[in-house]
Amino acid sequence: MTSPNDVDPALRNRLIQIGFPEDPGEWKQGKAVFSSNKLEILGHPVMEAWEAPYMGALAKIATRNGGKILEIGFGLGLSAGFIQEYKPEEHTIIEVNCDVFSKLEDFADRSRSKVIPLFGDWRDLVPSLASNSFDGILFDTYANSQTEMKNVCEAFVFFDEAYRLLKLGGIFTFYSSQVKFNAECEQGLRKAGFSNIDGISVPVPVPKDCLYWSHDTILAPIIVK
Ligand SMILES: C[S@@+](CC[C@H](N)C(=O)[O-])C[C@H]1O[C@@H](n2cnc3c(N)ncnc32)[C@H](O)[C@@H]1O
Repeated sequence: MTSPNDVDPALRNRLIQIGFPEDPGEWKQGKAVFSSNKLEILGHPVMEAWEAPYMGALAKIATRNGGKILEIGFGLGLSAGFIQEYKPEEHTIIEVNCDVFSKLEDFADRSRSKVIPLFGDWRDLVPSLASNSFDGILFDTYANSQTEMKNVCEAFVFFDEAYRLLKLGGIFTFYSSQVKFNAECEQGLRKAGFSNIDGISVPVPVPKDCLYWSHDTILAPIIVK
């Protein structure tokens, strides 16, 4: 692949052309449009249901040690639903969009294992979460700016915090936008302190008209602190 991540550069440019609000705070109030198989915010294809097998794989990885799970980005709630199937001791979920957050509150009310919904941008909320406090972390947000869209993956700027928040032996996974680990991503993980870096390739039934992914597999990272 030619781009810093495995997202086809033509697809990435189409996403950039949709445009981003000058104030990232607008993502909070942006109307979320839910349909049977998709979530759009401010015209961006934030989440699509064909990712279900991939979300299932990420949830299985994040809950491998049981215990306390941190999830960032609720979206359609697919990964959150899978995480609940593994009966975590506690499931904290951070979400920045008001409309999506109200779905998250409903989800929390219905969930069997304890869900702690936190409203806001992870960049504002995560610094106040205690170090060495989570057994597993699943990070899946959506780029809020052109700069972020060009990062190797959305989680790239979260790697340091992932390392800080995890207990020793805790597991970190994230939406990778990669088919195999690329060097920049691996380097970022190592710089944050991780040395146990692995992953599995997950087959996905991506539709031809998907605007953000074009391969028939996605890498599910398995990163252990
Ligand atoms: C790709 S979706 C998550 C999909 C989810 N894993 C699922 O299975 O449905 C991304 C979510 O992250 C939220 N989000 C984007 N940027 C965020 C940020 N900076 N902080 C918290 N949530 C964010 C979006 O509003 C959206 O609901």
